[in-house]
Amino acid sequence: MVMVVIGADHGGFSHKEAVVKHLRSLGYEVVDVGTKSADSVDYPDFAKLVCEKVQADPDNSVGILICGTGIGMSMAANKFKGIRAALCHDEYTTRMAREHNNANVLCMGGRVLSEETAVKLAELFLKTPFSGEERHNRRIGKVDSFLQC
Ligand code: RB5
Repeated sequence: MVMVVIGADHGGFSHKEAVVKHLRSLGYEVVDVGTKSADSVDYPDFAKLVCEKVQADPDNSVGILICGTGIGMSMAANKFKGIRAALCHDEYTTRMAREHNNANVLCMGGRVLSEETAVKLAELFLKTPFSGEERHNRRIGKVDSFLQC
């Protein structure tokens, strides 16, 4: 079972708490990097903490990042080499993020989704495998090559 590294800013704090509780109840090892309260913080700080931990053990870890919209977290996370962060809003985008994009970080908006939906999408993300199909690997490889631009 993969290790889940999760972080949020104040806009995603309560959703993070709900996701952590649910994933631990399913038996996942969850590393919660904060934030620890609803006080205002800067989302890039938490994106960095999560992405560096996923980079350190990319085969055995995935990340979850929650801010108000999920936009800032996804923009920040995709600056990190080897991180494929996907901003997901529903079951379809979450499933595609794994099956087609092999996303290793799930981003969600705490002011966009209910806590119940965030919990459901986090579980779906963890349980959905990458399809491994050649065309998707090829496309992911092209995206990775942009790091050299
Ligand atoms: C914080 O107010 C908000 O800007 C942040 O949570 C996030 O939505 C940024 O993308």
